[in-house]
Amino acid sequence: MKTAEIRSAFLKYFEENQHTIVSSDSLIPSTDPTLLFTSAGMVQFKPNFQNPESSPYKRAASSQKCLRTSDIERVGQTLRHLTFFEMLGNFSFGDYFKKEAIAFGWEFLTKKMGLPGDRFIISVHKSDDEALQLWSAHTSKDRIVKLGDETNFWTMGPTGPCGPCSEILWDRGAEWSCGKPTCGPDCDCDRYLEVWNLVFTQFDRSADGKLTPLPRKNIDTGMGLERLAILQQKVASPFGTDGFQIIFKDLAKLTGIDIPQEKNAPGPVTPQQASFRRIADHARAVTFMISDGILPSNEGRGYVLRRLLRQAVRAGKTLGIHDPFLHTLTGTVVDTVKATYPETQQHRATIDSVVKLEEERFLQTLDTGTRMLEDMVKTAKTKSLHTLPVKDLYQLYDTFGFPFELTREMAEGFGLKVDTEGFEAAQKQAVELARGAWKGSGAQDVEHYHTWKAKIKSPIEFLGYTVLQSTAETLGPFYRLNNGQWQETTSLEKDQEGEVMFPKTPFYPEGGGQVGDTGVFEWKGGKAVVLDTQKPVKGLIVHRIKILQGTLKVGDSVTAHVDEVKHASTMRHHTATHILHQALRDVLGKHVTQAGSLVAPDRLRFDFNHHSPLTPEERQRVEDLVNEKVLTNLNVTACLMSKQKAQEIGAMMLFGEKYDENVRTIA
Ligand code: SER
Repeated sequence: MKTAEIRSAFLKYFEENQHTIVSSDSLIPSTDPTLLFTSAGMVQFKPNFQNPESSPYKRAASSQKCLRTSDIERVGQTLRHLTFFEMLGNFSFGDYFKKEAIAFGWEFLTKKMGLPGDRFIISVHKSDDEALQLWSAHTSKDRIVKLGDETNFWTMGPTGPCGPCSEILWDRGAEWSCGKPTCGPDCDCDRYLEVWNLVFTQFDRSADGKLTPLPRKNIDTGMGLERLAILQQKVASPFGTDGFQIIFKDLAKLTGIDIPQEKNAPGPVTPQQASFRRIADHARAVTFMISDGILPSNEGRGYVLRRLLRQAVRAGKTLGIHDPFLHTLTGTVVDTVKATYPETQQHRATIDSVVKLEEERFLQTLDTGTRMLEDMVKTAKTKSLHTLPVKDLYQLYDTFGFPFELTREMAEGFGLKVDTEGFEAAQKQAVELARGAWKGSGAQDVEHYHTWKAKIKSPIEFLGYTVLQSTAETLGPFYRLNNGQWQETTSLEKDQEGEVMFPKTPFYPEGGGQVGDTGVFEWKGGKAVVLDTQKPVKGLIVHRIKILQGTLKVGDSVTAHVDEVKHASTMRHHTATHILHQALRDVLGKHVTQAGSLVAPDRLRFDFNHHSPLTPEERQRVEDLVNEKVLTNLNVTACLMSKQKAQEIGAMMLFGEKYDENVRTIA
C-alpha cells in the first residue's frame, strides 16, 4: 500500500466507526500560541479534552502535520528521526475509553492493515492492570510488558491533559537488537519500533504539577504514518517508503549518484546516505512550513525553517551540489501530498521562490563567511593567538549566519582552536533573550484565558457582521488587572481596568491583522470605555475596558456600542488591503502572498515577499490599479459558504490563516 492509501484507509476505518474526520491543523498551532509547532495530533483538540461537553463531536480522527525539532542533528543518521511527519490519530472526548481504543487499534492493524499480530509487543503503564487485562483479550500475556512513567505516561508539556499510555511496538527480531543484556521494548536501539501510542487521557496537570482527574475521560492516540508505511512496505525506515524514495530519485538525477540502498537489515549509515535522507526530510519540512505561512527569519519558527534550509544546502554540498537545488525538490513533495493538503499546491510557486531565494542567500553567506573567517584567522595569527576569539565566532554565526560547525572545521584546518564552550555560552545568552521576547508577546497569558474559557463553557457569538450595537448581560467572571496580575472578580469599580465578556458581542476582535474594535458600554448608572477587543483563544471575545462611571457587576444588562466611525475606517482599510494584494499579484506575479498585515483605522500595512525591491514603474502600476478599483466604487457583498465551496469559486485564502469549515467570503 502506498502512503496515501494507508492514510485514507485509516481515516475511512474511523469514519466507519462514527468518528468525525477533522482536517489537519496548521503547523502553527491554532489553539495554543505557547507552542512553537504542532507536534502531535491532539494539539488542536486540547480545548475538546478540557471541556468535552462543548466539543461539537464526541469522536474524531485526523491525519495531522507535525514538526518536532529536538533531534534535528540526528536526522539521517538513524532509522527513525524525522523533523516533519504525519500523525494519524483517533480521539474520544468523554465518549469511549480504554476497551474500545484498544479494540480499534488492534483491529485496524491486524485486520485492515493485515499485519501479523504476533510481531507486536504491547506496553502498558506499570500501574495499569485494566489495560493489561483488556489487551490480553487480543494477544497473549507474554507479549504484554509493564513499563514506567518514562515511556508509558504521556504529558504534552508542563500543563494540560495527560495520562497513562499503552504503546504498540513492532518487533523487528533479535538480529536488530543492540545486544545489551538490558535490551527490551523500552531500549533505544532499533529492535522495537514504536508504531502507535494510545493515551488514556484521564488527568489535567496544573502548573504546580497536581494531577486532577478529568470529569470525563478521553482517548488520544497517535501513530506515525511514515512508521506504519515502514511495516506495510516492508522496509527498514521511512526513507525506504514511497514518500521519500520519490525525492531520492530526483536527488539521484541531480547529483548523478545512485540512490543509496535502504536495506532492510541492520548496518552502518554511509555519509552519502545520511545526506540523501537529511535533504529529503528537510525538503518535506520546509515545503509544509512555508505552505503554512512560515518564512525564513532569525527567530522563532522562521529560524527553525532557516536552519533546516541551511542544513539541506550543506548536505547538498557534501553530494557535490553547489547551486540552489532544494527548491526543485519542493515541487515533488507537493505532488505527493497535494490531494490531502491542498494548501501546498496553492502556495507551490511561493514555496519554490522562498526556498530558492534563501538558498541563494545562504550560498552567498558561505562565500562571504569564508572570506571573513580567513581575515579573522590572519589577524589571530599576527597576534600569535592559538584560539579564535569568541567575539569573532559569535559574530560569524549571528551576524553573518555562518554555521558554527563550519567555522570550527575551517579554523581547525588553519591550525587554530575554537572555544566551543564560550560560543555555546554566548548562544545560550542570546536564546534566553529571544525567549524573553517570545513571552512578552503575551504567551504567558494564554493559560489564564484557557481557564476562563473552561468557566464560561459555550463560545462567544460574534454579531458585528450585521449590527454595531447590542444589549446583553455580562458573563461571569470578570478579570481585573491588579499590579500587572489578572485577578478574578465579579465587579469592576470606577477607574478600574478589567476584561469582560458577553454571550454575544458586536465588537470585532483583533485578527487577520485587523485591529480590535473600541467603543463604549452603558448600563444603568454606569459607563465604560472599551479600549480593545481580543480573541486570545478560539471561542472567546474579550473586551478590555476601563470604568468611567458607576460599578459593573456580573449579570448586569449592558448596551455595547462599537465606535462606528473608527470601525468604518478600519473596514475601508481592510477592503483596500485586498485590493492592494490583488494589484501586487497582477503586477509582480502570483507568488505574492501576505506575510503580515496591519489593518487600522488610520492606515494599512501589507507585508509580502518578492525577490527584489519594486521598481518605480512597478510601484506606479500597483498604485494605478488600486486607485482604479477604489474609484469604481464597487459594492462589497458578504456571503457565508463552506470552505470547500469558497476554494472552488476561487476565493483568495490568505497564507498561514486557519479557516473554519464555514467561511465568510467578500465579493
Ligand atoms: N499524544 C500522543 C503522542 O503524541 C498520542 O497522540 O504520542
